Amino acid sequence: RISVVTAQEILDSRGYPTLEVSIGLGDGTVATVAVPAGASTGKHEARESRDGDPNRYEGKGVLHAIENVTGIIAPALTGMPADDQSVIDATLLALDGTEFKERLGANAILGASLACARAAAASHGVDLYRYLGGIEAHVLPVPMLNVLNGGKHAPDGSDIQEFKLIPVGAPTFREALRFGAETYHALRDVLHDAGAPTTVGDEGGFAPALTSNAAYLDVIMQAIERAGYRPGEQIAIGLDPAATTFCEQRFYHLQRDARTLSTGEMIDYWADWTRRYPIISLEDPLAEDDWDGFQRITSRLGKQVQIIGDDLFVTNRKFLQRGIDTGCCTGILIKPNQIGTISETLETARMAQRAGYACLVSHRSGETQDTSIADLAVALNCGQIKAGAPARGERVAKYNRLLHIERALGENAVFAGKTAFPQLRQ
Ligand code: PGA
Ligand code: ZN
Repeated sequence: RISVVTAQEILDSRGYPTLEVSIGLGDGTVATVAVPAGASTGKHEARESRDGDPNRYEGKGVLHAIENVTGIIAPALTGMPADDQSVIDATLLALDGTEFKERLGANAILGASLACARAAAASHGVDLYRYLGGIEAHVLPVPMLNVLNGGKHAPDGSDIQEFKLIPVGAPTFREALRFGAETYHALRDVLHDAGAPTTVGDEGGFAPALTSNAAYLDVIMQAIERAGYRPGEQIAIGLDPAATTFCEQRFYHLQRDARTLSTGEMIDYWADWTRRYPIISLEDPLAEDDWDGFQRITSRLGKQVQIIGDDLFVTNRKFLQRGIDTGCCTGILIKPNQIGTISETLETARMAQRAGYACLVSHRSGETQDTSIADLAVALNCGQIKAGAPARGERVAKYNRLLHIERALGENAVFAGKTAFPQLRQ
């Protein structure tokens, strides 16, 4: 049973405060987790609690969230069994009582929810992926490695927030990570040879200022070949334009291309790119309120390219249901802190899987050493994860955790590879 719940303010990978929560059980088990934070957040995400005190961390302190954990959540959870996640999470939701978690804050709620899951798993002597996914959990996800950062994660880079390597042709997770890391290093050489800077953005990808958005795809293609891989077959490409961030009054402003596009022209732009480059995943290609546009792009490109809703769905069943009903997207991004509790995260993911939607488990641009999302991806057997570049401690922590899980599963481990992408199945 839960005996102590504590919280403290730590720093995330951008140097801003975030929440760490520890839960102790009567049997002596202690589990500690940390909550991540986004920069290009969706409008309908659950709200994180930030102090707003301009004298501390530009208002981003989380001392109120700590008070909510120790003053409100701790007394309610103390004495409860940690291993009844649905009761724990129902308790947290009832304590909060608001649709977007603005009373306690999604950071306080997720910290408590996740710490309970970790404590319960440890107390039962099982790994988190097994605790959440049961005996069925055995699929190692294809990593989507974000090697060029732009948008809100690197203001001098591309308008497009993420250019990702997807090593679909690798035989194992371990090899996929090697394919990706080698290509990342080749990309650094390609950029260096071209006289471009090789400094990195929030997620560890390079962030040079190139002459057009397509130029970023060209350097990736060169890097894949320079590293000795076949583009498309061994390493495909995924994009997250995070289009909400460059959409204003229904027009898309691409500064790198000096162009302003309507929704129809934006769809043509992506269609052209998917013809010219081996792109197999496209996340948030349009703005978060452009449901009609999402319907159009899904019916036009959805068979060749996975269309993922991130800001559109915000890991929320209500928005996902609307997407399923109207034919928007073929997959969903899964970010626990967008919705707040582990139970809701699992429910949304399973609802997507039942509807034939892909699930892509995701980190945030502001991260910590917490590796829970690696376990979550295996628990869901969903076959896809994005956790940034194969560089920077907070990013590789997730990939390294997957290496451990792959090794622990031994012969039972299955690498998702091409099977994670229906359009690549023969
Ligand atoms: P964020 O970006 O964590 O800054 O929201 C990640 C994403 O858009 O997928
Ligand atoms: Zn996104």
